[in-house]
Amino acid sequence: MKKKTAASPATSAAARPFVYRNRSLYCDGVSLTALAEQHGTPLYVYSASQISERFQLFQKAFASRPHTVCYAVKANSSLAILRLLARQGAGFDIVSGGELERVRRAHKPALKKVVFSGVGKQPWEIDAALKADILQFNVESEMELDLLAARAQALKVRARFALRVNPDVFAETHPYISTGLSEHKFGIDIKVARSLYRRAAKSKWLEAYGVSVHIGSQIRKVDPFAAALERVTSLVAELRRDGHDIRAIDAGGGLGIDYSDAPFNAAHQVDRYAAALAKGLASETAHLLLEPGRFLVAQAGALLTRVLVVKQNGSKTFIITDAAMNDLIRPALYHAHHEILPVRQPSGKRTITADIVGPVCESGDFFARDRAIAQVKPGDLVALLDAGAYGMTQASNYNSRPRPAEVLIEGTQVTLARRRETMRDLLAQEIL
Ligand code: LLP
Repeated sequence: MKKKTAASPATSAAARPFVYRNRSLYCDGVSLTALAEQHGTPLYVYSASQISERFQLFQKAFASRPHTVCYAVKANSSLAILRLLARQGAGFDIVSGGELERVRRAHKPALKKVVFSGVGKQPWEIDAALKADILQFNVESEMELDLLAARAQALKVRARFALRVNPDVFAETHPYISTGLSEHKFGIDIKVARSLYRRAAKSKWLEAYGVSVHIGSQIRKVDPFAAALERVTSLVAELRRDGHDIRAIDAGGGLGIDYSDAPFNAAHQVDRYAAALAKGLASETAHLLLEPGRFLVAQAGALLTRVLVVKQNGSKTFIITDAAMNDLIRPALYHAHHEILPVRQPSGKRTITADIVGPVCESGDFFARDRAIAQVKPGDLVALLDAGAYGMTQASNYNSRPRPAEVLIEGTQVTLARRRETMRDLLAQEIL
């Protein structure tokens, strides 16, 4: 395990804001033990400064060209986080009417910097986005283009759109989150895009504003981003020759982080990414839209949980926590690795090998299998790291478990961003 010393809170090069001070784990200036006492567990804890730093790394890396960072709301849609980013100038990538409403609540002026992605937009969602006058619809099929034109006509407004093209580029990541190959459901075959732009030009309700692409998520090598963008850039040149006034290129999201405890330099990673995009864009100067999600929020967050039971079954040791797969499904769904740290720093190096699991009634409910971890006992706290992205947004009420509370840390200040769900919340929609 990499030494996490009682150093200063997050700096821009630090992977995570979770550090030991006086042998106890902190998020920036706040002790996780104190947080658990005040807010209970399981609890999502986010560092505001880390999110801001990551956003600023993007701003800096792309400073030389006109761009907008449209944070992918699906990664973490907490209103407090949306507001934090919006106030620094972020736009947003949304995939539903629900996410549109979140942006409106968090920071209404940001609606004009929204791009709307997704393969199955419904008429009511399109209407809401048209009325909000969002920046761009990322259209994923011919049928959707027709629907968008019809809704725009009905509302008597023009819809700015980009076709999301499928560049048929392979990006090495988990198969569930790879999207850039023709075998995936996403985007429009780049070879037919030109004819669709030609068709769209016949409608006075459609405005060809951009071209978009997104090849997948948790992508660590940057070459696939360059390859995808190169294809988009040559399409844009063709479209301009065809007479379309293309103003934006949306490069999507997908930049990965390091979930292991290896040293990770976020600034360097963003710079490599920016260089790859620059290579793909060559001399193209269109407004660049970026849709990072995970990279901005994953390492800012941890899921804080308390050990309920430690038990032995045959040769195996199980550490059962009060968080479960319904709170953080990434290990169960993608076999994702999350570092797990005891909140009280162990004095020695001695570890046990154990499965860290939740109380949900299925064997898929695990956070780690055969993991070396310091000896913990019931009542101890542990933190699942890098849980700021796709943690709470993928949480469910499986096993009728209320979802966790969320707190946002700003230095030494703690803000409750979402209160813990109650039984009353859980039953409120049901009819008997
Ligand atoms: N733009 C579009 C169109 C997307 O579909 C996504 C993510 C993003 C941007 C943001 O990608 P990011 O920068 O966060 O990689 N639940 C999975 C990840 C699903 C990603 C879905 N799309 C996980 O926990 O790993």
